[in-house]
Amino acid sequence: MLTVLALCLIPATRYYQIDVPLLRFLRGSRQVDPLSLHLSGEFVEGNLGTEQDPDGSVTVRMVAQQYLFVPHCILVPAGTPVHLRITSADAVHSLAFNGTDYNVKVLPGTISEAQLRFPNPGEYKMPCREFCGAGHYAMRSRLVVVARDRFPALGAGERGNCAAQ
Ligand code: CUA
Repeated sequence: MLTVLALCLIPATRYYQIDVPLLRFLRGSRQVDPLSLHLSGEFVEGNLGTEQDPDGSVTVRMVAQQYLFVPHCILVPAGTPVHLRITSADAVHSLAFNGTDYNVKVLPGTISEAQLRFPNPGEYKMPCREFCGAGHYAMRSRLVVVARDRFPALGAGERGNCAAQ
């Protein structure tokens, strides 16, 4: 009886975790070279941060590395689909959004994807929830959700810039 209960609890507790790397692994994963992230491809510095998509949604690209998330502050519009794409330059990390159920595991060599949505303007701390070394407890970024009509059309140079908000 207890065994059955335990077996039911495992998927139940995992349900709200967006464990995309596992799904990717099962479906055929999307590989990326963790050692050349800054040199070429989707995760070069100029591509990181929030990008407006043609259909009105946004794509957020981030890199996790010991011991920070890049960019350090992310700006997204409220009530809008947010496609998160994140990979790791080194260890296994986990990007959480305090106050929500979102928790995205980040592995080197794989692009983790998650679909997020933040109904209201506000601010969320984004700590790392996977122990990744000595600096783990200081590893965090910030998410700023602004009203849709206040979301500026961001240029490439200000994608990850929350300072003005
Ligand atoms: Cu990254 Cu803990």
